[in-house]
Amino acid sequence: MVSPLDDVDRIMEVMAKAFPAEFGEAWNRRQVSDALLLAGTHYALIAQDGALTLPAHEQAAGFYLSRGLFDEEELLLFAIAPEWRRRGLGHALLRQFITGARDRGKKRLFLEMRRNNPAGILYASHGFRPVGIRPRYYRASNGDRIDAITQELVLE
Ligand SMILES: CC(C)(COP(=O)(O)OP(=O)(O)OC[C@H]1O[C@@H](n2cnc3c(N)ncnc32)[C@H](O)[C@@H]1OP(=O)(O)O)[C@@H](O)C(=O)NCCC(=O)NCCS
Repeated sequence: MVSPLDDVDRIMEVMAKAFPAEFGEAWNRRQVSDALLLAGTHYALIAQDGALTLPAHEQAAGFYLSRGLFDEEELLLFAIAPEWRRRGLGHALLRQFITGARDRGKKRLFLEMRRNNPAGILYASHGFRPVGIRPRYYRASNGDRIDAITQELVLE
């Protein structure tokens, strides 16, 4: 019998492929496991066909991980594996995050992204707006410093 895939394994498999190595944004397994033990942490997986519930042996095409505090929630990790991009899975997963947070009673959502990350186009299409800049916050492996842009979505 094949054992069911553990959700941390599924997250780590996407994580290993999804984040460009030069920015050091990916979390390690310990960071993910520890985060999942904290109250207020939420996550969802998405399958290659866009389903948000995965059969026991299916690998994920993407995931998000967020943490809520009071009436706010921050999207900490959001990724679709490279081979499944530009098919609408990012839209579906972001919609799931926003809907889930609203259902959890959240009023304001936040995230932080590298300036010029194409993910910004996706976030803007769901109503996120830039509300702050941390100048030169990210350090690329070639030494370049890149601003972090804080984005906010106020839920009605
Ligand atoms: C950002 C990310 C999650 C998008 O996933 P995706 O499944 O490709 O997203 P979608 O197919 O739903 O695309 C949604 C829209 O976002 C925009 N978009 C996404 N990737 C883009 C890119 N590389 N260049 C330009 N626009 C892009 C487009 O408007 C796209 O719509 P379109 O395909 O109809 O033109 C994915 O590229 C990713 O995992 N990137 C690496 C991790 C990362 O940077 N996460 C965000 C951290 S803040």
